[in-house]
Amino acid sequence: MEVLAIVNQKGGVGKTNVAANFGASLAALGRNVIVVDVDPQSTLTKMLLKAPRIPTDPGTADVFVDEPGSIVELLVDVPDFGVRLLAADFDRLDEAQSTLMRDPTRLFGLAQALAPFDGDADYVLIDCPPNYGQLTTAALYASTGVVIPIDCSWEAVGGLGLLLRTLRRVATIKPVPVHAVVATCYKASNTFHPEIVAGVRSVLGETPVYTVRDAIDVQRAVSLHRPIRTFAPKNGATTDYEILTAAIDAKLYKERARVE
Ligand SMILES: Nc1ncnc2c1ncn2[C@@H]1O[C@H](COP(=O)(O)OP(=O)(O)OP(=O)(O)O)[C@@H](O)[C@H]1O
Ligand SMILES: [Mg+2]
Repeated sequence: MEVLAIVNQKGGVGKTNVAANFGASLAALGRNVIVVDVDPQSTLTKMLLKAPRIPTDPGTADVFVDEPGSIVELLVDVPDFGVRLLAADFDRLDEAQSTLMRDPTRLFGLAQALAPFDGDADYVLIDCPPNYGQLTTAALYASTGVVIPIDCSWEAVGGLGLLLRTLRRVATIKPVPVHAVVATCYKASNTFHPEIVAGVRSVLGETPVYTVRDAIDVQRAVSLHRPIRTFAPKNGATTDYEILTAAIDAKLYKERARVE
């Protein structure tokens, strides 16, 4: 089971969109996918679920309590995306941050909750908040690797340095290799964007950098709680997600199957 944290401390770079659309594309390949919302903003949860959550609904915050039960009952089926969701709830996840500050042993709560899915799920994608607080740390402790979405801005290249330093710090407890960078909202017509992608490649060396083109249908699909692949199958952004999904899956899932 590959557990991938979708992480970047910068806000609004496309983390949640990557978690949703990469997750849906992996599911379309026949993979068993769980997506986890650890962001108190609950954007992924709102994106995937049509009905609003109520405060007592179970979700991610439950894995950080003293005696967590099995998360099987916490997962919600999301047929339009072909995934199961561990949902976030703004207030309860916000409170969970205080628990994690008081009791750092609970930082492993998500890792422990996901362990029984090894052999059942092929992928777990964890949508992280835009900061390096306790919830992101808990996500990284649960992960086997990370995928880094970036926006195509000049700050993106500099921001990667901070992220790589954080990953090196986490690596003293748990190695989390960077499997891919995804440059979202990519515009081929913007001559600066290829330069930024080239800058990222020079920082990361071997790590593949994929692009997803800027497409208004990505935003339309979100507003209708649908993945881009079924909302606009012929859209270039759908093709971009298919390409990066096939490549990451070939590297992680098929490679693993070959070794086993
Ligand atoms: N390929 C794309 N084309 C057009 N718009 C996009 C694309 N990908 C993402 N967006 C838009 O960019 C904005 C930010 O995306 P998203 O919410 O996924 O970022 P985020 O990194 O999760 O944000 P936060 O840090 O607040 O959690 C959203 O309005 C989203 O619809
Ligand atoms: Mg988000």
